[in-house]
Formats: sequence, C-alpha cells, structure tokens
Amino acid sequence: MKFLIVYGSIKGSTEKMAGYIAEGMRFAGQEAEVKSFTDVRDPEDFAGYDGYVFGGPTYHKDLLHGMKAWLFKAKEGGLDGKAGGAFGSHTHSGEAPASSSTRWPTCSR
Ligand SMILES: Cc1cc2nc3c(=O)[nH]c(=O)nc-3n(C[C@H](O)[C@H](O)[C@H](O)COP(=O)(O)O)c2cc1C
Repeated sequence: MKFLIVYGSIKGSTEKMAGYIAEGMRFAGQEAEVKSFTDVRDPEDFAGYDGYVFGGPTYHKDLLHGMKAWLFKAKEGGLDGKAGGAFGSHTHSGEAPASSSTRWPTCSR
C-alpha cells in the first residue's frame, strides 16, 4: 500500500515524527511519502494513495489554525473509504492529536 503522511510543524518536531512514521511504514514493506500540509493544496494532490496519516502540533491548546482549515478542505480530496490515521505533538495539554483525529475527513480510521 502507498501512504501519504501530511504534517504541520513550526519548530520541526512534528515534521520529525512524520519522518519516523514513514520510516516505520517502509520498514513494514509499505510505500510512504511525507509532505507539509502547505504543499498539499489541491484535491488532485491526494490522488494515488491507499491511505493517509495527518498530524500537527499543539499551540495554545489547539491545532494550528491553518491546519484546521486544511483538514476541512481535505474532505474534497476523495478520501472516503481509504485507510487513515492521525498523530500530533505536544508537551503538556496535547489537544492536537485528538483534534487531528476528530477533524479527519470521512475515511476509515
Ligand atoms: C508558544 C507555544 C505554545 C505551546 N502550547 C502548547 C499547548 O497549549 N499544549 C501543549 O501540549 N503543548 C504546547 N506547546 C508545545 C508544542 O506543541 C511542542 O513543542 C510541539 O512538539 C511543537 O511542534 P513543532 O516543533 O512541530 O512545531 C507549545 C509550544 C510553544 C512554543
């Protein structure tokens, strides 16, 4: 299977996590591509993958504002029925992982 891992990150930790997730997937024999959400703009950018993993950091008890809007738009990417997962980074309150997960476009989790 081929996966697209999309992250948001300001200081680089969540980007690193995305890379580790991709490494784990490749180790398990899957294909994985990693992209910043700023580089995944159009519905066509979601084409060609069997599954998606989205993640972002927690800033001021929330997911990045731009990423919330991005997750909303990702619904146009035709992800229905595809495999999906969410992750996030934080230090103390940790809202981003749950927020990424509950805002996930309509696919299987
Ligand atoms: C200004 C600022 C606000 C933060 N607010 C929160 C927060 O409300 N809750 C939390 O769990 N972590 C918070 N963190 C920690 C970040 O979520 C954590 O360092 C994360 O790994 C940063 O991801 P990034 O390096 O990909 O940007 C905050 C960090 C900074 C610098």
